[in-house]
Amino acid sequence: MTPRPTLLLVDPAHFDVHYVINPWMRPGDWAADPDGHRQAARASFEALKAALSAAGANVETIPGVPGQPDMVFPANAAIVLDGRAIVARFACPERRGEELPYLEALRGYIPRGLLEEVAIFPEGCFQEGAGDAIWDVNRQLFWAGYGQRSIRAAADEIARFFGRRVVPLELATSRFYHLDTCFCPLSGGEVLFYPPAFTPEALRVIHEHVAPEQRLEASEADAAAFCVNAVNIGRNVVMAKAPAHVRTMLEARGYHVSDVALDPFILSGGGAYCMTLRLDRSSAAAAAR
Ligand code: ARG
Repeated sequence: MTPRPTLLLVDPAHFDVHYVINPWMRPGDWAADPDGHRQAARASFEALKAALSAAGANVETIPGVPGQPDMVFPANAAIVLDGRAIVARFACPERRGEELPYLEALRGYIPRGLLEEVAIFPEGCFQEGAGDAIWDVNRQLFWAGYGQRSIRAAADEIARFFGRRVVPLELATSRFYHLDTCFCPLSGGEVLFYPPAFTPEALRVIHEHVAPEQRLEASEADAAAFCVNAVNIGRNVVMAKAPAHVRTMLEARGYHVSDVALDPFILSGGGAYCMTLRLDRSSAAAAAR
């Protein structure tokens, strides 16, 4: 029996939308009804937790930090593989105050045996965690997004730290500013992705590594609903409210889709995957669940 995957989530008590660092963020909408949005965020968060547990995960929740509303997106906090973590360096000054709290929080998992080592990217080496570095267990490599938040040079740092193959993919647009908004490898070897988010060269590289029958192309509506930003646990996929197109495509491949209304977080440009960080991510295929 494989152990239940452990996902880190951050309590949304300090979540809000009061600055703009990606084109989805709507501080005006938030300010029109902060209490309503806060309550909705709490309800969405609880629904996501329930969906992740039902999909087979253990959920670890840590508190956020006042003044750091985007801490609810721990996918950006670090890259984790085989008990080793490397903490992000944020490109936007608004999020830099998350680096030390995350470093501390992740170090707190060392005594518990969940992590063995926690490092941090060198200063100025902008890299926004598992949002821009996605482990593909079937291909035994990291896909690394760059060009929006993370820099190309961070890919070399990832390769050096983990001693693993890293395939850099340049992101073409500010709308899909993290790789996890437009690219999601699945346990069966398929990759769900949104082609217009990538430069022609990045698309060529994706096509080189992913066979035609494994390419699941999301539509504009799927991507805009943050459904490519999905958490995959075995045959379960948890995502924001899913258009029929993406749901049907995944169900046809034998996946079970569970969707959650994440509107308050989409108002900040984040979906289900962004709101999680898998702490027991393993390079071993047998642990792909
Ligand atoms: N407002 C956050 C930002 O722009 C959203 C982060 C979403 N995270 C992600 N991994 N895509 O940084």
